Amino acid sequence: MEKLILYGGNRLTGEVSVSGAKNAILPILAATVIGGNESTIFNVPKLRDVEVMEEILIALGCNIKRVDNMMWVDSKPLNQIKIPDELAREMRSSIILMGAMLSRCGEVIISYPGGCEIGPRPIDMHLKALKDLGAEIEESHGFIYSKGKELKGTEIQLDYPSVGATENIILAAIKAKGTTIIRNAAREPEIVDLQNYLNKAGAKINGAGTSIVIIEGVDQLENVTYNTMPDRIVAGTYMIASAITKGEIILKNVIIDHLQGVIAKLKEAGCLIYSDENSLKIIGPEKINSIEMVQTLPYPGFPTDMQAQIMALLSIANGTSIISETVFENRFKHVEELIRMGANIKTFGKVAIIKGVKELTGAKTTAKDLRGGASLVLAGLAAKGKTEIENIYHIKRGYENFHNTLRELGAHIELVK
Ligand code: UD1
Repeated sequence: MEKLILYGGNRLTGEVSVSGAKNAILPILAATVIGGNESTIFNVPKLRDVEVMEEILIALGCNIKRVDNMMWVDSKPLNQIKIPDELAREMRSSIILMGAMLSRCGEVIISYPGGCEIGPRPIDMHLKALKDLGAEIEESHGFIYSKGKELKGTEIQLDYPSVGATENIILAAIKAKGTTIIRNAAREPEIVDLQNYLNKAGAKINGAGTSIVIIEGVDQLENVTYNTMPDRIVAGTYMIASAITKGEIILKNVIIDHLQGVIAKLKEAGCLIYSDENSLKIIGPEKINSIEMVQTLPYPGFPTDMQAQIMALLSIANGTSIISETVFENRFKHVEELIRMGANIKTFGKVAIIKGVKELTGAKTTAKDLRGGASLVLAGLAAKGKTEIENIYHIKRGYENFHNTLRELGAHIELVK
């Protein structure tokens, strides 16, 4: 089994061009099935999750060509309504194919989705909203059968601004009769990217990025060319790689606005950050300041997908920090691994108290999920001696060429097969 081996202590310096966003391209790829049209998409990252979505689209009958970071999808030949089991279970975002396939075929069969084990992650809001749009949904033996030949626009009030549920509703409503209004919609930038892609293809969506999204049903979509937004979580992870190694990293291809929550906390930790239109330089401090409180929240709050990484940084801060995870139930699996490396962290439900230690020491660790795995890499960059990280398939779900990029920045890291 592949593992990562790191020897910590090197200062990282240099430039990284940030790849396209995993959480933007996945719903966009789901959206490609709706129109029976051709989509040419640029800035598509090479990640396991993207490959899974590509395999699902091929299994449904789509034609796909991939050249470097360009993907061309022709969804005209789509002729299946069942999402293959093993692929649906590998990735939780497969659930957004429900909305897209209802738009396209009026019918879809999918097994309960998988993904990171970070809490119960129910899909009740997705199912309720699709029913409100007129879909009939039956659940049996681990499968969800949905039918809805004629979805009708309606008003949907979400109990919580769920990213996936907002995307699923948008996808289902694209060709529905009339207008759909989503209230308390998630405001994440990836939803704006989905709106931009779909509107470029001829959809009529307004309001993405605010808590009210309005979708007017259209009859058809046109061929479209689109450029995926940069990955704000990948950018944030490299920012912490710089912060934790007293480094100096320049990030190209970033949208500064998307990073404000992370920038504010890293400044509190003592980092110097300079930015212009779409690049950013971050200089790590000699001594990392503790942070009184990091609370994860829906966008524009501090992202839950950066919680594990900032915890790695705070584990060697000067003083005690508190992290409150409000988005997911069970997102502290990296804590026991960081403790193996000498961190002093205690958790109480959704709160973690991190007492900064002088230094971390290398240890044998296991990635338990995607961002938790990234936090172990970051900890290993700063730790004294050798760190081993197993189960790195989790990390490959979200970081393109991670170890090579870190090595180019000066890290002592290798992938062992
Ligand atoms: C997306 C992101 C993920 C990120 C998360 C929050 C993708 C592919 N994944 O996940 O990286 O961590 O947003 O920013 O874009 N919930 C329910 N019922 C539902 C749906 C969600 O209770 O029907 C709960 C979840 O269990 C969780 C919270 O709502 O506690 C937020 O989940 P949601 O915003 O839906 O996250 P995802 O779309 O799964």
